[in-house]
Amino acid sequence: MVAVLRSVIRGVGAHLPKRIVSNEDLSKIVDTSDAWIQERSGIANRHIADETEKTSDLGAAAAKQALVRAGIDPIDIDLIVCATATPDRTFPATAVRIQSMLGVTKGAAFDVQAVCSGFVYALAIADNFLKTGQSKRALVIGAETFSRILDWSDRSTCVLFGDGAGAVVLEAQPQHGTRNDRGILATRLRSDGRYEDLLYVDGGAGSTKTVGHLRMNGREVFRHAIQKISGVIEETLVETGYAADEIDLFIPHQANKRILDGIAKKLGVAPEKIVMTLHKHGNTSAASIPLALNEAFEAHRVKEGSLILMEAMGGGFTWGAVLARW
Ligand code: ACO
Repeated sequence: MVAVLRSVIRGVGAHLPKRIVSNEDLSKIVDTSDAWIQERSGIANRHIADETEKTSDLGAAAAKQALVRAGIDPIDIDLIVCATATPDRTFPATAVRIQSMLGVTKGAAFDVQAVCSGFVYALAIADNFLKTGQSKRALVIGAETFSRILDWSDRSTCVLFGDGAGAVVLEAQPQHGTRNDRGILATRLRSDGRYEDLLYVDGGAGSTKTVGHLRMNGREVFRHAIQKISGVIEETLVETGYAADEIDLFIPHQANKRILDGIAKKLGVAPEKIVMTLHKHGNTSAASIPLALNEAFEAHRVKEGSLILMEAMGGGFTWGAVLARW
């Protein structure tokens, strides 16, 4: 007997700009070193989009790969949610441009703005559309060109971020309504605007009429990250009745290796279950979780039935977690 609809992940894809910029390359622009960046963050390289590559180009390429792997025709997609803080234009939404690039003309497409937590937010939103039967097949995309909002003279931020995109195809499928179901099992979203000034962009269409540059108090962000992220993960586990050691794959937002290790240690997740792409991509904001999921998929670390925990925290602050079974 069918009890509930669940959002089952049918496919994953990713796309990275070709140009790779190393820590060594950055040390020629700002007063930094490979040793400092690796020790403080765990980052070695990042991909940077060239002049012609826009967020929508990266997102559409990732979406196409996810659709092929899912075996789903773009015309059968009726919801596109794109998480991005670096849209092609202030409007229309990048999701709508991607919709057009894919040749999709039905359903709805819109962007979600929750910065580094964007993909977790977008997954939770799409899950609610699918669970209630409002949509049947959704593309959830995380796509960013953070290189365009970095202050390349500020060594405390420009070394940490990169560009890229990842995407998943979700399909509403009938499941039994138990914790052994496939699909998204639980989501938790949080935000607290009191922390706005710790991580923000100093411009905007409605204030300065400019795009602005990213500003961050890294030490303060770091101080909040482990405690806030662990909190939503624990709530997700309590809701589903799972223990941390039952998670097969831990796919965190890739911001800082010390934050990831700290969360895994606090929760008791074994190091071999953590998917780490930070050293190759840097922090790609909303793209980092689907990029890491894609890497785990290509490395055959994701199997049918794998219990996957995703989490993120970003500007706002916003933060959240998603527990899903592949
Ligand atoms: N190269 C060399 N030295 C640097 C650089 C650099 N690129 N950047 C800063 N420094 C210097 C500082 O000027 C400072 O020098 P001082 O002591 O003479 O004043 C020194 O290094 C230490 O700076 P801190 O900011 O205290 O260094 P910290 O150990 O905190 O590391 C970092 C900085 C990597 C930004 C860390 O705080 C961090 O990762 N914070 C979390 C930020 C984050 O992840 N944001 C992403 C979004 S939120 C999220 O996803 C969790």
